Amino acid sequence: MQADVVIIGAGPAGLLLGHKLRRAGIDAIIIERQSREHVLGRIRAGVLEQVTVDLVEEIGLGARLKQEGLAHHGFYLADGERLIHIDMQGLTGKSVVVYGQTEITRDLMDAAPERGLEIVFEASEVALHDIETNKPFVTYLKDGVEARVDARFIAGCDGFHGPSRRAMPQSVGVGYERVYPFGWLGILADVAPCSDELIYANHDRGFALASMRSHTRSRYYIQVPTDETIEHWPDDRLWDELAIRLGPEVAERLTRGPAIEKSIAPLRSFVFEPMRHHSLFLAGDAAHIVPPTGAKGLNLASSDVAYLAAALIQWFEDGKSDGIDNYSQTALKRVWKAERFSWSLTSLMHRFPDAGAFGRRMQVAELDYIAESRAAQTAIAENYVGLPL
Ligand code: APR
Ligand code: PHB
Repeated sequence: MQADVVIIGAGPAGLLLGHKLRRAGIDAIIIERQSREHVLGRIRAGVLEQVTVDLVEEIGLGARLKQEGLAHHGFYLADGERLIHIDMQGLTGKSVVVYGQTEITRDLMDAAPERGLEIVFEASEVALHDIETNKPFVTYLKDGVEARVDARFIAGCDGFHGPSRRAMPQSVGVGYERVYPFGWLGILADVAPCSDELIYANHDRGFALASMRSHTRSRYYIQVPTDETIEHWPDDRLWDELAIRLGPEVAERLTRGPAIEKSIAPLRSFVFEPMRHHSLFLAGDAAHIVPPTGAKGLNLASSDVAYLAAALIQWFEDGKSDGIDNYSQTALKRVWKAERFSWSLTSLMHRFPDAGAFGRRMQVAELDYIAESRAAQTAIAENYVGLPL
């Protein structure tokens, strides 16, 4: 097979890039390891910055997002005693949209055939070749038969564990990493949310988050030790713990229900530099991971795609290479700022086993300062709604 760009991975990064390129008449094909059902079964975050909303609308696939997405103009930070309101709209003039990443993925997958965007699912042993030349290619096994796609460029959109980043020679790249000493245990339930807006809580017993997917579907998380297992958290225990950590005022409004999904995810900050090596570009989780506290994962994938699509379109349409030459540097500038925000909000809102009493006091003092300072609230709001492209 032959394409202008072969994309590895059908997560949000790969799908958004594929649609954006197709829209410009560029030939793209996506190679995905999992089945369609598996990809659509993954429960991920659901807070969209305007950058992401714009991208979905630009490719003409924003209808359901517009109809079902919930505009959120603010959120709360809770410190065990009170709720500190961060009025995003009032402080920055901007807001975010709550719409599940799973739903975006579905919208983009459903529209792929009619847009001429081929997705090969269940491709195993995906491998990248000749990335340092102008004729790179990708090989994989499909139903036991080896296939090959030749292209001008490869876009590695295959997440943290995918083969693309590892295809770069060790000498060209550096990874920067912080692994946090805890994870998030998440529960999805078909119950009404306890609050109109998200609540990020820092309680003595650890972090908790009240989020949602719709007016009838809630998503909650609590901080747990890294080695925790789901078997230790039957639904009742989890609801009890949420009620404590979210505080008495919120607990009164907490509706319990059976889990339709429950899982534990580790927290990590990671950035790989550079995001391009000759004919290979990295985008999304393939190049960087953020802890979920700032809701930046999907939104960073979107900004990478916005930069990369523009650069590739410029190359294919005008033969100009400054876009692709600057891609890594441009994308990384925004990535590092979102990394900083995600790390800082994670540091502020979680219990760190080694922080001690002093560390705890620092958190309390910072939350106290935020509660009283419009400047501090503005800095948080500005980052949460997303920095400009
Ligand atoms: N071959 C082909 N595809 C692969 C391979 C492989 N060897 N390894 C991984 N993939 C696929 C995964 O199955 C997945 O569908 O690459 C895709 C990567 O998608 P995501 O992990 O969703 O990453 P990305 O598209 O960058 O989206 C970033 O989505 O996953 C969340 O937390 C993430 O919110 C962030 C955003
Ligand atoms: C979610 O709804 O899953 C969610 C929301 C906000 C976050 C992380 C996850 O910061």
